[in-house]
Amino acid sequence: MTRVVYYCATSLDGYIAEADDTIDWLTGYTGSYRGEGARPLEGSYEEFFAGVGALVSGSATYAFVQRHVEAGGEWPYPNTPWWVLSSRGRAVPDGDGVDVRFRAGPVSDLYGELAASAGADALWVVGGGNVASQFADAGLLDELRIHLVPVVLAGGKPLFERTLARPMQLEAVQPRDNGMVELRYTLPRP
Ligand SMILES: NC(=O)c1ccc[n+]([C@@H]2O[C@H](COP(=O)([O-])OP(=O)(O)OC[C@H]3O[C@@H](n4cnc5c(N)ncnc54)[C@H](OP(=O)(O)O)[C@@H]3O)[C@@H](O)[C@H]2O)c1
Repeated sequence: MTRVVYYCATSLDGYIAEADDTIDWLTGYTGSYRGEGARPLEGSYEEFFAGVGALVSGSATYAFVQRHVEAGGEWPYPNTPWWVLSSRGRAVPDGDGVDVRFRAGPVSDLYGELAASAGADALWVVGGGNVASQFADAGLLDELRIHLVPVVLAGGKPLFERTLARPMQLEAVQPRDNGMVELRYTLPRP
């Protein structure tokens, strides 16, 4: 069965972006931690992405990546289907390995198609919080993996948009050498 994993970075107070969709608090973050058990942040994303078969996100997250590519950045998810939830659809950049698929509707209706594209690998819920809540509400979120960043934003786009009623099981706590902490939780399917 495909595992559905919400993987992202969040501020200490639970925001994944500023209200205007900027993430300078994350890209510009510097810190350090030399305590026991610290492991490098470098390489951890690549390790996670190696186990991803497909991605799903909302359209604001896609628009953020579009702006990055238009500014000359590389396509971040080569040869991996990216399901973008949108009632409108948007332009897709040219380029080898770009595989963007627009869909609209309840995630429970779309799940079969998304999971089939991920196969035995993970379906990565990239964000935002409302999409994560849609998967959680539908009982389709298996795992939450967050990098907690010691920054307080006091507002912005939330990690989740709605209450998550089901209990989570803490599976791993991994301090990073830059002062972030990776937390991994599993959620039982109903
Ligand atoms: N810190 C991190 O690690 C991290 C990770 C991911 C994202 N981010 C950032 O966080 C922000 C997230 O923004 P957000 O929460 O406002 O938005 P989002 O989830 O990326 O996009 C929300 C939009 O997606 C469309 N949508 C969502 N579900 C849908 C469905 N089931 N069917 C059809 N359309 C659907 C709707 O727009 P339309 O129908 O109008 O298209 C909705 O307004 C972005 O700035 C992103 O870059 C940060």
